[in-house]
Amino acid sequence: MARRIDGRAQARALRDRVANGVARLGEVHGPVPGLAVVLLGEDPASRVYVRRKGEQAREVGIRSFEHCLPADTPQAELLSLIDALNRDPGVHGLLVQLPLPDHIDEAAVIAALDPAKDVDGFHPLNVGALAGGGEGLVPCTPLGCIELLKGHLGDLTGKHAVVLGRSRIVGRPLASLLLREDCTVTVAHSRTPDPAKVCRQGDILVAAVGQPGLVQGDWVKAGATVIDVGITRLGDGEDTRLVGDVDAACVGRVAGALTPVPGGVGPMTIACLLHNTLVAACRQHG
Ligand code: GUN
Repeated sequence: MARRIDGRAQARALRDRVANGVARLGEVHGPVPGLAVVLLGEDPASRVYVRRKGEQAREVGIRSFEHCLPADTPQAELLSLIDALNRDPGVHGLLVQLPLPDHIDEAAVIAALDPAKDVDGFHPLNVGALAGGGEGLVPCTPLGCIELLKGHLGDLTGKHAVVLGRSRIVGRPLASLLLREDCTVTVAHSRTPDPAKVCRQGDILVAAVGQPGLVQGDWVKAGATVIDVGITRLGDGEDTRLVGDVDAACVGRVAGALTPVPGGVGPMTIACLLHNTLVAACRQHG
């Protein structure tokens, strides 16, 4: 049976490292890092994420500023809030929770963020820095995947990594990060003719497509390390459960190690957000 990669334990360890970094920054008379999160509307899942981001920030000593605005907030008002937060020296990290209501131009909002405070790593300058091998802020979920892989495998040099999915938030940035780790990288997606055959080549397989149970046992090389980024809520009312992109029952018999859903990539994402906030605060402190 595959070993279970414990995302909760690794996230706890990363949060402890961030808490130590925050304390050390204080010792050298640096600022208390501040994270501002902006939410438009009442989407229940987004509310849960925003609440968790605030709670976990405070736990590691990061100041949290939550701005919850009505769903019908005009774009100009959102942009002027972003402008104020960009200029606020107490705010080192800034993110706008997605998805945004239809009347808001998401690209315009992301472009308005100060790239130095863009702890989601979504601003075009940070996207370009990552693709070009430069030093920007890196999206949290892909960064969490790399941390889990290195925690389990150590050095990733020379491994063949297959990324299933080419999204802006996970697949594409993750492919760049794996290249930075000196992996051989293949990206498979919805137009790949035989995705199972491609996935089977991976020493590492990361599934990030949002299709519950897509990856079966015969998609996986024996002994491979499998990271399941998919989180889909199935069922309704009281009777719901979270499922990943990987059919864990059959893949667990083939893979060498597998992340569970929940308790795998999910907890790492917020821990990486806190890490990015600390990095941003240190860079702004100089
Ligand atoms: N909504 C779902 N995932 C994310 C994320 O990583 N960042 C933001 N800002 N919104 C999200």
